[in-house]
Amino acid sequence: ENNKLWGGRFTESTDTNLEKLNSSINFDRRMFAEDVEGSKAYAEALKKINLLTEQETTLICDGLDKVKIEWDKNSFEIKEGDEDIHTANERRLKEIIGEPATKLHVGRSRNDQVVTDMKLWLRTRLRDLDNTVRSLIKVIVTRSANEIDVMMPGYTHLQRAQPVRWSHYLLSHAWNLQKDCNRLDDIVKIVNILPLGSGAIAGNPFPIDRLDLASSLGFNSVTQNSMQAVGDRDFIAEFLFWASMVGIHLSRLAEDLILYSSKEFEFVTIGDSYSTGSSLMPQKRNPDSLELIRGIGGSLFGQCCSFMMVLKSLPSTYNKDLQYDKEAMFTTFDKLKSILEVATGTVETLKINQDKCKNALSFEMLATDVAYYLVRKKIPFREAHYLAGKVVAEAERKEVSICDLTLEELKNISPAFGVDVGKVWNYENSIEQYQTIGGTAKSSVMKQIDLLEKWLIQN
Ligand code: ARG
Repeated sequence: ENNKLWGGRFTESTDTNLEKLNSSINFDRRMFAEDVEGSKAYAEALKKINLLTEQETTLICDGLDKVKIEWDKNSFEIKEGDEDIHTANERRLKEIIGEPATKLHVGRSRNDQVVTDMKLWLRTRLRDLDNTVRSLIKVIVTRSANEIDVMMPGYTHLQRAQPVRWSHYLLSHAWNLQKDCNRLDDIVKIVNILPLGSGAIAGNPFPIDRLDLASSLGFNSVTQNSMQAVGDRDFIAEFLFWASMVGIHLSRLAEDLILYSSKEFEFVTIGDSYSTGSSLMPQKRNPDSLELIRGIGGSLFGQCCSFMMVLKSLPSTYNKDLQYDKEAMFTTFDKLKSILEVATGTVETLKINQDKCKNALSFEMLATDVAYYLVRKKIPFREAHYLAGKVVAEAERKEVSICDLTLEELKNISPAFGVDVGKVWNYENSIEQYQTIGGTAKSSVMKQIDLLEKWLIQN
């Protein structure tokens, strides 16, 4: 006997291998609450156009609440034939309330139901992820304020470039994450468009009030084309891209910190609770937390890429290929959430080794400042850059640090050098030059902290 929702026209039962492949209950069960929520709202919409009586609606809604409680209590029994969460909930509703349950699905299809459930599910999770990213930003901002006096080498091409504040470096990651939060607003906008009422493909033949349905489910508007609505997974693709971008940002932070925690740098020490040891080498202290973040950061883009490939060339409207969307969405959410939390803990607990950072600074990193010194003596920048290059070369030739060249030697390179050149050989002076918005001077870094603190409160 065929107990499937769509079993009417079939005589033979489904092949067991196909049954397994076709079944999505093992992952889409995570949307049980959203499926119930959508169904209750739909029942109310049917009542308003007299397709359900007051009494039937109450029975259905109360029954759905009972179904939800079973899921909540982990007592919901998945039965053979429960292909997905929609099928399972409807089957169970019928067992609980009987006949009226069979009236609920009128005009609706799993095609508009599933997208509705996913949007409801994702909406809550996006808020959750937004808060999780914010917690990380908060940790970075707090550290930056506390450790504003720590100086370190800034790197380009991984070569020593110019001295910067450790806070300035850390905040560079906070700003990337702040942009990620802002970017999320656009995804929330498209998630908040309700597809329910699109049916399988052609729309809903009964005069349900979709706008009313939308507001009852907290959506801002409704989709305007049923064919578009049932085949649309752009919001999933955008979410996956967004998560990949966050993952990539975290992977770059992780990579820096892995490097900075090595003995060769030793700028930071990763906290015990975020490090692991080796089963063979007793001295080891491995930054596994950061390596996992770095690796998973990449695999998130794998999810995005693989789902985009599922979408590519798919015929219009609903096709079963789309069922893969949920695995991509759930996996991405879980992985991103966990690496965000681990990143937050790792950054919060790491120790900054102020002296190691400072000792890694070297005077040739001030060669740019020599050029700026000459510019302030009215020498055009290109010439000043050339002369500063000569200073570096002279120091190399004499095998001394550039700050050890005598005034006379400097004057041989350019008569513009004076005794005040001594001030150039000071890392803090160097850093303090960069007071323009976005620079590494203390005032500018404090401004960044202030802006981010305000942003955290306001948004
Ligand atoms: N489990 C299905 C999915 O996730 C629900 C939609 C099924 N629709 C259908 N026409 N078979 O995509």
